[in-house]
This record gives sequence, structure tokens and C-alpha cells, in this order.
Amino acid sequence: MSRTYRIGIAGAGFAASFHLENMPESGIEVVGVTSARAEKREAFAVRHGLRAFSSVAEMLPEIDILDICTPPSSHLEYMLAAAAAGKHVIVEKPLTGFFGSPAEFTKGQMLSAVKQDLRRLREAVAAAGVTLGYAENFVYAPSVQKEREIVEKTGSQILRMTGEESHNGSHSPVYGIWSVQGGGSLIAKGCHPLGAILYLKRKEGLARNGVPIRPAAVSARTHSITRLPSFSDLGFIRSSYQDTEDYSFLHVVFEDGTVADITASELALGGIYDFIEVFANDHRTRCRISPVNVVDVYSPKHDRFKGLYLVEKLSSNEGWIPASPEEGWSLGYAKELRNFVDCVREGRTPESDLDLAIDITLAIYAGYVSADDIGREVKVPRLD
Ligand SMILES: NC(=O)c1ccc[n+]([C@@H]2O[C@H](COP(=O)([O-])OP(=O)(O)OC[C@H]3O[C@@H](n4cnc5c(N)ncnc54)[C@H](O)[C@@H]3O)[C@@H](O)[C@H]2O)c1
Repeated sequence: MSRTYRIGIAGAGFAASFHLENMPESGIEVVGVTSARAEKREAFAVRHGLRAFSSVAEMLPEIDILDICTPPSSHLEYMLAAAAAGKHVIVEKPLTGFFGSPAEFTKGQMLSAVKQDLRRLREAVAAAGVTLGYAENFVYAPSVQKEREIVEKTGSQILRMTGEESHNGSHSPVYGIWSVQGGGSLIAKGCHPLGAILYLKRKEGLARNGVPIRPAAVSARTHSITRLPSFSDLGFIRSSYQDTEDYSFLHVVFEDGTVADITASELALGGIYDFIEVFANDHRTRCRISPVNVVDVYSPKHDRFKGLYLVEKLSSNEGWIPASPEEGWSLGYAKELRNFVDCVREGRTPESDLDLAIDITLAIYAGYVSADDIGREVKVPRLD
């Protein structure tokens, strides 16, 4: 009989809910939840038949895997605590970041601090011998996995990629505050397409000669369009960002000289808009993440379908709607959690692992340094 792994979830909000819904059906037991606010964690625990813990520290002795679904500013502390206790880690995106005010710290200071934190984290995880799964669901999306298969089986060279995540802001009231999120659309949304793009280039290198192709340099621009005096606010687009950008563009140059361009913004109406496009030397692939265009629903009146979930971040359920029939599949959530648990069991490295997460984080903060210098090229630092 194979062992059952006990999972504890930190956080009782949006991400905690979709993690719970997409947990593997066998080999695990979700035993508990903790979250900052007692009423929220208790309500979540009652709803799902779990035990509510008052803190991560209290929950750690009762679990094998800590699943971190809290805001980014708490990720590092919880990952280090889990590793110190010899527990495996699943952590939501972004891995970590710099959580101080951009009015007080330069982007160069942020990049140096993040680099130090990442080194500390990597050492702690290695010393503890635990598995860390970085929950970048784009990596596990079926469309991205199909492209991974094509690149691995054919030995294609990816020449350029484009990718985007945009929608109309976040549901979270603390989104838009740098000291909680570690930045704006570049880190919070750009990390998704960037993650899949860096993953595919790693896989290309590994397939060809066993060495991943990694990002070498970035140039970026960031803008705060909804804070412009000229912004004409008609009330459709969220505009309450305190000190973070709502538009970002990141140009990545890889070690082999090939490139990728990532756009991330809070400025897209019409529901979540997520894709990767790959231009290779022998093929071209469009990876639709959301919408996936599997089923279109026509609704003559918003009120008829009010409250019915059709697609993420769509403000109105009227007209033709590219509904998501099964997001656990199309967004990669279920495959991601299955892969993490299997890797814990078998002592393997997850498809989306700490090395990938470190490259993503350093590329993003190198991007912030670049954006402060109006797009100057900045090297992506290495921990090694
Ligand atoms: N992969 C994805 O598609 C995706 C989508 C949404 C959010 N996320 C990520 O998931 C994480 C959580 O986001 P969310 O949308 O669920 O936020 P949320 O606000 O809906 O939920 C956060 C939960 O964490 C709790 N919390 C806050 N600070 C805490 C702390 N220090 N210790 C313990 N609990 C704490 C809150 O009380 C709340 O229950 C973020 O890292 C976010 O980037 C990922």
C-alpha cells in the first residue's frame, strides 16, 4: 500500500479554493487549513470538512506538504518554515518578491534583496532535502504541454515567443499595493506567460544537449495608465492601484540569442486573456490558456445568467461568451497538483520547480530595474 500524504493549506481565499477542488483523488488527504483571519479559516474548514489551525507553525507538525495559497509577502517565511520542519512545499505564484515601498527603495536594491532571499531559500530547500513545487499552472496547461512534447520529440529550435496575461484587475483588495504584492502587473500577471516561456526554452535545451537554455537579459517598460490624468474612467476598468503598474512589457533575450516578448496588464475587458505563441524554425504553435474556445454560450440577458460562472473575470454574462467548461484541466491546476504529489512520492523534481521559479523571479526584478531606466537592457543575475 502506498503512503498517503497529509496536506495543509495556508490561505482560505480564491487560490485555496481552486487548489482544494483540483487535489489528486488518491494518495493525499487534505487535513487542515490556516489563514490570517479566524472567521475565514473556520468557515473554510467547516465548508470542506477540514481542521482549522491558528497558524502555519501549529499546522506543520500535522502535515507532510504545506500548500501556500496566501498573499506573496508571506510566501518566503512559510517556505522557510516548512523546509526547516522537513516538510515539502507547494507555493502559489509569484514565488516571492520585494515587499517594501517603491518610494523608499530603488529597483536595484529590490533586485539585490530578492537575490539574497532566493539564495537563502535554495539553500534551505537543498539542506532539508524536501520537494518544492512552484504552482505555475501555465506550465501544466494542456496547450503548453503539447508544445513541450513537439519541441522534445522534434528537436525544434524556438526562435521567438510572445505571451500575455491580461484582465480587468484582481478581485483582491490588497492588489495594487507593492508592499503586499511585490509589484504590479509584471510580477502578478506577467509571471504566468513568462513562466511558460522560460519553461519551454529550458525544455528545448534539455532535449537538445541536456542543458537548459536560460534567460540572459531583459528590457522592460511599465506604465500606470489608470493613474494618468488623461485616463477617461467610465467605471468598467478597475483603477484603484496604489503604487504598482497596470501595464508592463518585458523583452527577454535568451542565452542562445533567441527572444520572447511578454505583455501583462490590468486593462483588458472581456474576461481573462492568456496565451503563449511559439515561432520555431519548423513550426508555429498557438497555446490558448484562456479562453480556450471549447464552448461558446450565448446569453440574451445578463440577469438570466447572473451568478453563473462562465469564464474568469468577465464582468457581464450577456452576449456570446467563451465559457470555460473545465478550468482544472484547461488551466493546468489538476495536472500541476498531481505532478507535485507524484514528485514528492517518487523523489523527483516537478516540471515547475524551484530553479524555474528562481529564473522567473530574477527576470522580473531585472525587468523592474530596466523599466526604471526606460527600457535599458539589464542582465538577469544568476545565483550560481
Ligand atoms: N495560479 C493562479 O492562477 C492564481 C490565481 C489567483 C491567485 N494566485 C496566487 O495565490 C495567492 C493567494 O491569492 P488569492 O487570490 O487566493 O488571495 P485571497 O485574498 O483570495 O486569499 C488569501 C488568503 O490568505 C489569507 N492570508 C493573508 N495573509 C496571510 C498570512 N500572512 N498568513 C496566513 N494567511 C494569510 C487571507 O486571510 C485569505 O484567506 C497569491 O500568491 C496569488 O498570486 C494564483
